Amino acid sequence: MEYKLRKAEPRDVSDILRLVKELAKYEEMENQVTLTEKDLLEDGFGDTPFYHCIIAEIQGESSSDVASDLKVVGFAMYYFTYDPWVGKQLYLEDFYVTEEYRGLGIGSDILRHLSDLAMKTRCNGMMFVVAENNESSIQFYKRRGAEDLSQEEGWRLYRFGKDSLVKMASPSEE
Ligand code: ACO
Repeated sequence: MEYKLRKAEPRDVSDILRLVKELAKYEEMENQVTLTEKDLLEDGFGDTPFYHCIIAEIQGESSSDVASDLKVVGFAMYYFTYDPWVGKQLYLEDFYVTEEYRGLGIGSDILRHLSDLAMKTRCNGMMFVVAENNESSIQFYKRRGAEDLSQEEGWRLYRFGKDSLVKMASPSEE
């Protein structure tokens, strides 16, 4: 099966949103996805991109029109963060391959691509969060050397939701 990895372009936002939703469904949290294609377009492809994506694309079998027969079957959404102890980090936000194309090496290839990028940009690590019931992915990451920081260092993930932010913000920012 032939596939290629490439950087996402503005025309990919509908496929990105489709895969974001598929992953959220896999994690049984699909109803929490409120993002739109417009948000993805503005946030990823404006003057200051807030995220980047690598897309895995296969050539379909049905059509003679090669360009129209490409299918996006996987992606990774990532951005750069900064750790005040060690410096630059890659943050892997979403990582997903459509079920029928799993186990073919696409995910490993995406991680190779991100590791190359991390080396080129002198990042010291790649952070990510995995749901604790996603045992198959936890094992996938652990086989590649990932450490469980919640268990080993006791970190817990917190968030200020929009309501809390509104309460803390200056009245004029509401
Ligand atoms: N499905 C999944 N894994 C399989 C399958 C299959 N049908 N068949 C075999 N495998 C094994 C492979 O042998 C391989 O084993 P290895 O770790 O010893 O190499 C591994 O599972 C899969 O390796 P790849 O083919 O390189 O990876 P894949 O293309 O399947 O992508 C991914 C990995 C992204 C985790 C994919 O399985 C997936 O989308 N899972 C569901 C969604 C998910 O959990 N995403 C990660 C959430 S965490 C986050 O987003 C930061």
